[in-house]
Amino acid sequence: MITCDSLVYQPFQPTGDVLACDGVSIQSIVEHAGTPTYIYSARAIRESYRAIDDAFASYPHAIHYALKANSTLAIVRLLRSLGSRVDANSGGEIRVAERASFAPQDIVFTGVGKTRDELEYAVAAGVGTINAESAGELDRIAAIARGQGRVARVAVRVNPDIDPKSHPHISTGLKTNKFGVPLQEARAIYRARRETNGLRFVGVHIHIGSQITTLEPLTHAAESLVSLALELRDDGFTLEHVDLGGGLGIAYEGRPTISPADYAGAVTPELRRAGIPVVLEPGRAVVGYSGALVARVVDTKCFPDGRKFAVLDAGMGELIRPALYGSFHRIVPVAVHAGAESAWDIVGPICESSDVFARDRMMPPLEVDDLVAILDVGAYGSVMGSNYNRHLLPAEVLVDEGTWTTIRRRQTLEDVLALET
Ligand code: LLP
Repeated sequence: MITCDSLVYQPFQPTGDVLACDGVSIQSIVEHAGTPTYIYSARAIRESYRAIDDAFASYPHAIHYALKANSTLAIVRLLRSLGSRVDANSGGEIRVAERASFAPQDIVFTGVGKTRDELEYAVAAGVGTINAESAGELDRIAAIARGQGRVARVAVRVNPDIDPKSHPHISTGLKTNKFGVPLQEARAIYRARRETNGLRFVGVHIHIGSQITTLEPLTHAAESLVSLALELRDDGFTLEHVDLGGGLGIAYEGRPTISPADYAGAVTPELRRAGIPVVLEPGRAVVGYSGALVARVVDTKCFPDGRKFAVLDAGMGELIRPALYGSFHRIVPVAVHAGAESAWDIVGPICESSDVFARDRMMPPLEVDDLVAILDVGAYGSVMGSNYNRHLLPAEVLVDEGTWTTIRRRQTLEDVLALET
């Protein structure tokens, strides 16, 4: 039994002697799909989405799934079928949302460094809210909207200088981070533009970081944002929502973490002070547990000091989180050989010493041609892939109701070279 947070559905479990995704044999999938391949469980996505939706059932809310976590079309469509809306972080993600048949008003457009082209596109499309990152951006949105004879629905993203107690690379709400406007300046920015033609202020926005596993920073952020919303109400603004962003962490290491219910329980009392609907932008908590990267062992070696390496056919080009953040992912063999466990370094084939998935990981015996599954990679896995060393982007497969389909074919060298002269 693979355990993690006991309340969370775990899609990758042994069936008989071999690992399966929702009961479908991984071996049988990769016989056809090859390796490396991302395999996702539709059931895990449904259950995670519903856990968040149910947690906020007692408060008016809208879930805008953060596309940046995983924007493969079939997954985005699955989320739409569950009633989700979306958070897009670029013009490309807005177009993906449109391709998946989201209505423009169901899209919030966030992101530092929106280009003029992206803003023109978003204003013309009539996206639900543009979360502006600076006073200058608000003014550019206003000018674009007036030029198009439209009124853009906007919110301002505030930077409250709160430490999310997460990895420094994914902390976004500290005053040393590039994101948002300082909380203490936000009220003046709204007030100075209350009568600006082309702008309609519909909300306030915050996102302090990702993979947050303690409640205190999330509650503190909600409290700061709600206090701002109340001040803006005093100033005569009629806001439609407060947007708390994403950030809810998952239990990569198998230790219990905060659940959606804990999160809702902590922030709902704050929200009730304002009494206006909340927008949530979860990414990782929706799709994180749903995916595994299945790879094949292509070499093993043992150095004189006893260090053992298993080299996979997937590396940092397929999954960069361990190399970039030193992040932990559970790794399990698809079929287990008998024998004692020992410490292995599980590494990729890329010419970089950081191309390592795990060091000194206790594993059963590993042999060339074995399959292993790297777990909890549904979020920020495939989307962060690259072609470094001319590796090709892997295939992606979705398992649903006992069957599987390829939702992205494996990239070919011709696909890559088609861009080049
Ligand atoms: N909203 C905004 C404005 C964001 O910037 C993000 C994530 C989210 C929502 C979704 O956050 P989540 O619920 O997934 O924590 N590549 C990193 C994570 C980067 C997160 C960026 N922003 C990783 O692999 O851990």
